[in-house]
Amino acid sequence: MKLKVYALALFTIVGTLAAMAFVSSDSQSKSTTLFPVAEAADAAEARTPIQVEQIQIVETAELMKLLVDPMFEELKDAVENPPEKRRHWRSLYIAAFNLAELSNLNFSRRDDDYMSTTEWVEFCIKSRDLSIALADSVKGQADYSIIKNNFLALTDNCNDCHTKFEPGEVDKIEVPESWKENAAGEKEDIPL
Ligand code: HEC
Repeated sequence: MKLKVYALALFTIVGTLAAMAFVSSDSQSKSTTLFPVAEAADAAEARTPIQVEQIQIVETAELMKLLVDPMFEELKDAVENPPEKRRHWRSLYIAAFNLAELSNLNFSRRDDDYMSTTEWVEFCIKSRDLSIALADSVKGQADYSIIKNNFLALTDNCNDCHTKFEPGEVDKIEVPESWKENAAGEKEDIPL
């Protein structure tokens, strides 16, 4: 008799669970609209505007202080000596591509009137092109002298932009200390 009660209880539980599973799978299939993949892609495209205007989040001085300069310091450390091991190349690669992407943010600066001039845009383009050239030379594991030259061109460009738009306001962006010490010897190796 007792056994029968247990069996009945067990059937009831199993039955309830099965019913719950059925209901939940049914409600799921109702909430997910099924349509062909191509149609789904069309719908996604319609929802995502292709041209989105970038908005400035921090002031330019902050962008430089919080993002550009720390990444530049990483790059400076990574480029100081010829990369040998994989991890050296990796550090260079990360810093160079980060700076290249960061250079895109210069275009959307608006905290000063001159940032709406063509001169500013020209500087932004030059800065982006120079950082891409550096990143590409790192990616292709180019000769160290080429990488170094690209880095020097980028550094000059940092200073040129500061001198042009904020003369006397920003400390000079420097190359690695050891390069300055060996400046005489370096000049022979690297035609500038
Ligand atoms: C397109 C122009 C432009 C380029 C290129 C540029 N900067 Fe700047 N930078 C600015 C402006 C504008 C300021 C803000 C000056 C101000 O408002 O006082 C600034 C400020 C700075 C500051 C001072 C931030 C602070 O207030 O503490 C540093 C550091 C700096 N930049 C580093 C760099 C480095 C490193 C590079 C190159 C990798 C670079 N910048 C490239 C325009 C530029």
